[in-house]
Amino acid sequence: MSAAVSRIGPRYALAGAAVYHVTRPLFRALGRAYGLHGQASAVAQEQITAARIALERGETIYVLGIGASGHNAGVGLVAASRANGIRLVSNNEEERFRAIKHYKRFPHESIRDLRRRMSALGIGPGDLAAIVTTFDFPEIVPVMLKSIAEEGPRALPMFGRSAAMIFDTHDVAASFRVPGRVSGVLGLAPRRPLLALRHHDNHAWFSYGVSPFAASAEPAMVAVLDGTGDDGSISLYLGRAGRLDFVYGNRSVFDSLGQMYMYLSASQGGWPPLSSEGRFMGAAAWGDQDRLTNPFYRQLREVFHLAPGGAIKLNRALADWHRGGLGRPYTKRLAEILGPPIPPERMWNPDAILNVDDVEHEPATRERVDKAAAVQLVFEDALFHVLDHFIRKTGSARLVLTGGTALNCIANMRLLERYGPEWYERNLGKAAQLQLWVPPVPGDAGQPIGAAYHFACRAGLAAGPPGETLTHAFYCGEAPARAEMTSAFAAAGDMGYRSLGSAADPHQRARIADLVASIVAADGVIGLYQGRAETGPRALGHRSILANPANPKTLETLNRLVKYREAVRPLAPMATLAAAERFFELSPGAAAADYNAYNYMVLTARAKPEARRVLPAVVHRDGTARVQIVRAETDPVTHAILRALGRRIGAEVCVNTSLNVGAPICQTPEQALETLRRSKGMQALLMIADEGEAFLVWHKLAAAPKDGGERLMALVRAWEAEVAVSA
Ligand SMILES: [Fe+2]
Repeated sequence: MSAAVSRIGPRYALAGAAVYHVTRPLFRALGRAYGLHGQASAVAQEQITAARIALERGETIYVLGIGASGHNAGVGLVAASRANGIRLVSNNEEERFRAIKHYKRFPHESIRDLRRRMSALGIGPGDLAAIVTTFDFPEIVPVMLKSIAEEGPRALPMFGRSAAMIFDTHDVAASFRVPGRVSGVLGLAPRRPLLALRHHDNHAWFSYGVSPFAASAEPAMVAVLDGTGDDGSISLYLGRAGRLDFVYGNRSVFDSLGQMYMYLSASQGGWPPLSSEGRFMGAAAWGDQDRLTNPFYRQLREVFHLAPGGAIKLNRALADWHRGGLGRPYTKRLAEILGPPIPPERMWNPDAILNVDDVEHEPATRERVDKAAAVQLVFEDALFHVLDHFIRKTGSARLVLTGGTALNCIANMRLLERYGPEWYERNLGKAAQLQLWVPPVPGDAGQPIGAAYHFACRAGLAAGPPGETLTHAFYCGEAPARAEMTSAFAAAGDMGYRSLGSAADPHQRARIADLVASIVAADGVIGLYQGRAETGPRALGHRSILANPANPKTLETLNRLVKYREAVRPLAPMATLAAAERFFELSPGAAAADYNAYNYMVLTARAKPEARRVLPAVVHRDGTARVQIVRAETDPVTHAILRALGRRIGAEVCVNTSLNVGAPICQTPEQALETLRRSKGMQALLMIADEGEAFLVWHKLAAAPKDGGERLMALVRAWEAEVAVSA
């Protein structure tokens, strides 16, 4: 890299340090005045000691985590005791209750919902051992001011709304009001002091503790890489027997893999940050993924300097988002490489579609997908650089990857391919294969429960056993009861429904599953709504849309008539373990706890030749699939549907996409009905009440392309006839 096009590190480092030095104590004091106390504070020590004493007495303590500013607001709750360790109770994401993706204001609805569960547990707000926050809010302002001062006057736009920093000035002000509002809503007087925990520690303790690796005495690396935490964007830890040791923190907001992906995917893809990254990753599969031939990769890779010690540094002579934010993210040189950035006012939000007939996608030109592939390759280079050093330094072969960038499921697969037995033999002289685990909610939506988990560890409990190891992700909100569902049907007026019996009874469940499988096998598209919703961005069988994986046209049907998505978006398969092993190259590096790492759609696998033939709808352009393994123990209904599909299409595999149309994943029965109403190509919903009763629901509208449920009824009659014959 020539000196003319490279600038590593801040322009005015001393000015930044001075600003930080002066403002930090001020904001700490301001935080205390508002009731926000850092994890090293006297108030924190007091609460930790009290919790420790309660645990030693054999009591169960409850800790509430809250995210109420920045993005992804929500509340989480854990229960903790010496005997049972740390148990996950809830992680309510406010976006679901509000139907506003990445909702960032105060999570009133999440709290209201959590109160129901707390009542069921027999606890009130006064019984909470601590209330903790997802960021160390008082640290954020001095760090932001430092980062801006380091770049001088040209960085003034970073104070503006289009900076796309995690916190704008409004968020900062809101964060200081959180303690007062929490106490107000929970009826706690006097105001309860909140503990403002370090963001990356929250990610790390939770993700390690619920991973299959926490049970072992063998050390595991824990890597947090996100847009940014409160004081940096990369933190590394080493976990051993339930404890974590902090190994490295980069203490830089801008030397960030997450920010690079966010700014480039938004400014090239044309979607707002947080809605752009996953879409861009899907588009990358259509582009040239060869580093030698991709026309953008060679020049774009200079956006990072891969420094010694596994550090990565943003090239501040090429990127300009550290000074201009989303409004001016490129230098002239970067604009020459990628073309001009799409300005924020021209971005459209695919997660907030008001009218599906207005959806019109930019054409997926060769150039656009090649740029996406180049960004993905640069991301992987930087990720490998960080982890390469970490693995060599620790000699470990276990990795928990977390923070928002851990949702890059293609990079996760490539990590497993890269750090195989050959790499370990050649570089470390030992027989090993990297073992990887990623939680279903590695991003900031997982912070409320992460912060609560982190506090329980600080109070002296081990991360991991005897506490809960994650096997599913159904922790968001309560399971709707029968009365809630039927009153939603009655209030809707335009929905038909009929009871199918009880899914709680194994025999009736098998019949219901067979009916659903017969509809899917006949190319029907059916929504599956049951129990508590998934936490994390992926629908995993409780708020899913099911479709036929064997029909090559399914992708087009779903993207065009159901989800109104870009043609480049892939569809993912859900499968039984046996089917996943039959059709996909499951990595030996993801084999821990019976391939637990494949439970959450955070890891891609390569499709075997048979899958391309039998399951054309779920193999992505690059020959991969974001497979989810469904287990009978944690989701008997979806598992039964997959088994029934196996009998009908010869593969225990189904298309799974989230139950939503241009909005967050459905939470309430009303939202599920609205999704059915808005979608033109979905025939029905299977809705299962908490008590077990299953309902088949259809939209009665009979105006093309909708037929008032006529085709659905024909399929049901055909199934009834078939069942009658076989009986
Ligand atoms: Fe984060």
